[in-house]
Amino acid sequence: VGVAALVVRQRMKTSGRWARAMGIVKEFEEKCGTPEGKLKQVADALTVEMHAGLASEGGSKLKMLISYVDSLPTGNEKGVFYALDLGGTNFRVLRVELGGREEGIIHQEFAEASIPPALMCGNSDALFDYIAEKLASFIDEEEQRFHQPAGRQRELGFTFSFPVMQTSINSGTLIRWTKGFSIDDAVGQDIVAELTEALRRKGVEMRVAALVNDTIGTLAGGRYTNNDVAVAVILGTGTNAAYVERAQAIPKWHGPLPQSGEMVINMEWGNFRSSHLPLTEYDHALDVESLNPGEQIFEKLTSGMYLGEILRRVLLKMAVEASFFGDVVPPKLEIPFVLRTPDMSAIHNDSSSDLRVVGSKLKDILEISNTSLKTRRVIVELCNIVATRGARLAAAGVLGVLKKMGRDSLTEGGEKTVIAMDGGLYEHYTEYRECLESTLNELIGEEAAATIVVEHSNDGSGIGAALLAASNSLYLDQ
Ligand code: GLC
Repeated sequence: VGVAALVVRQRMKTSGRWARAMGIVKEFEEKCGTPEGKLKQVADALTVEMHAGLASEGGSKLKMLISYVDSLPTGNEKGVFYALDLGGTNFRVLRVELGGREEGIIHQEFAEASIPPALMCGNSDALFDYIAEKLASFIDEEEQRFHQPAGRQRELGFTFSFPVMQTSINSGTLIRWTKGFSIDDAVGQDIVAELTEALRRKGVEMRVAALVNDTIGTLAGGRYTNNDVAVAVILGTGTNAAYVERAQAIPKWHGPLPQSGEMVINMEWGNFRSSHLPLTEYDHALDVESLNPGEQIFEKLTSGMYLGEILRRVLLKMAVEASFFGDVVPPKLEIPFVLRTPDMSAIHNDSSSDLRVVGSKLKDILEISNTSLKTRRVIVELCNIVATRGARLAAAGVLGVLKKMGRDSLTEGGEKTVIAMDGGLYEHYTEYRECLESTLNELIGEEAAATIVVEHSNDGSGIGAALLAASNSLYLDQ
């Protein structure tokens, strides 16, 4: 065969591959579609599930957990409180000095540590011992710095961001793990007892005054600075929402009617599932191979732990079936979770004309070099498809909650509804955040959009937990 013929054949091969790869992209894009009508169906389905979850225990995949928080911070909280925030890849310890209405937050200090991956899948004692140790050394440092030996019993607000069946404001059993944690012997255990025992083993005197989900902490922290905060949403490693419900609208609540007439609900919306959700073959495979198959489907479409992994799966298929990266499938691309969402965000956000961030990420993470500009553009487009679907679904989730609350359209009094949002995904993934906010405006319409405000509640969950510890303190009158 002549050289010319070889070149032609090579070109045909390449263009055939390219066409195949684009076919995969196109099909994926179509399956990920979230037109307004579909989002409204998703929102309505969520509202229906909210009713079912409130009606009876186990009435829905949406657990709609009762938080035992029936009053949110007022601003009068006073004293020194600690908080511990465990729920993602990092955990934080905080010390907050609250000065009441006049002085607000006088002082706050925090320390952060990452959870060694082995502890996320080990046993309960190992995890809680590790946490107790970090907390103990933080307390030591802080008390030395403030020359403040504990004059009274220390109290702590514990933000534990997993589904917990609360039995009181400061006790509750773990229903199951989510987000890559898997410590079997902790399931069904009282989380406060586990922590308290670990603290005792370390010789730390501390009373856990409040056990809260991060959404509840964020709601409390948000309310402290803004009276109109009625919903909290976390978009981070996982995703979830909490809101203020009328106690009388909770048939499964058999306790006394709270004085406020209200009860904060931890929805655990990550576990929402509906036939209206646009699931693709990649989502099914991700789910089946996950630590919690069949669970947290909404979370697997929208949150930080999974977006990069969805992208990896699409790229892998393109590599295998359309030789998208050449004749050899890049071995790194076969490693689950190798593409993290922060990297995907950096790729998506690359505004250089030659997409050099995309190039360097591909090289550093996947050991793929010499990609053409055309290839890089496709990868950015894939990020856009995955992030857009996630952000638009999250917006539909918010609409569903607002509908349940009767706040999705202009109310008679024109009250404001503020949604306190937090989480690394919301905070750091610009395209995602912008898409979420514009979709929410699109869904609620211009008129209502004037009264519905999304506010970033920066690390409100730790402070919120400290505030709830204050209002549930045994040692202080609030
Ligand atoms: C997961 C947890 C939930 C938490 C959310 C955000 O969905 O199950 O409790 O609020 O992640 O951290």
